[in-house]
Amino acid sequence: MAEQCLIAHISDPHIKADGRLSYRRVDTANALRQAVSTLNQLSPQPDLVLISGDLVDFGQPQEYVTFKRLLEDLRLPVYLIPGNHDNRDHLRASFPEHRYLFQHAEVVQWVVDDFPVRIIGLDSSVPGAPHGELSQASLDWLDATLVTRPDLPTLVMLHHHPFVSGIDHMDRQPLREAHRLAEVLTRHSQVERVICGHLHRTIQACVGGTLAISCPGLSHQVSLDLTPNGPSSFQLEPPGYLLHQWSSINGMVTHQGFIKHYPGPFPFFDTNGLID
Ligand SMILES: [Fe+2]
Repeated sequence: MAEQCLIAHISDPHIKADGRLSYRRVDTANALRQAVSTLNQLSPQPDLVLISGDLVDFGQPQEYVTFKRLLEDLRLPVYLIPGNHDNRDHLRASFPEHRYLFQHAEVVQWVVDDFPVRIIGLDSSVPGAPHGELSQASLDWLDATLVTRPDLPTLVMLHHHPFVSGIDHMDRQPLREAHRLAEVLTRHSQVERVICGHLHRTIQACVGGTLAISCPGLSHQVSLDLTPNGPSSFQLEPPGYLLHQWSSINGMVTHQGFIKHYPGPFPFFDTNGLID
């Protein structure tokens, strides 16, 4: 019988405290509430949920209180990493029962071996800065960790995108020196996906011999604007999530779903065949 693992992936909830709106316009708390409801109703149920950073909007303790309260309704195990809007110390203080967050003292990097797919979380956040970095120590740890289980399909998660997206204002705050991460990945063919947030829309690129893919935002999406020096802006396009479905027969296949419910499902066929 084929081994299987279904991984739900959401990103960038940007939760604020006290019902405040992000950028005075976006109800991010309600967006997370709807996402939790959507994930709880998925069939089949995912084995786990990953959230790839920007958990809260300004890294404040009260924001993490709100974020945690909203997550309490999620009936699935969840794993977290920080983004540039987070504060790793406040994150850890708010989730002491998430023991994987404490695997390393300096940064929130971790490996979880509880599922058929090995999950590795990296901490690319730089306090006070919008761009991302991975230290040589983190890259060495990633390399050494991947060496230990070359037989296990592996998913690597970080917040910042390790590729050039073509959206200029986001490419001024990417994972810096992403080629150093790519060099590590090139040595480990078991890495089936590199997943990230930060871009607030789904973008795919090859990185280090594997597929890197960014998750849509939970509430607001970064505008699809490929003009050089395009302005920094967002749009209230449909929020979404990714489902990374792995099986020992088919490998990893990634789907995108939407949080909002649209009309349907409707049948293609009736008793006379394809509906005309
Ligand atoms: Fe974000």
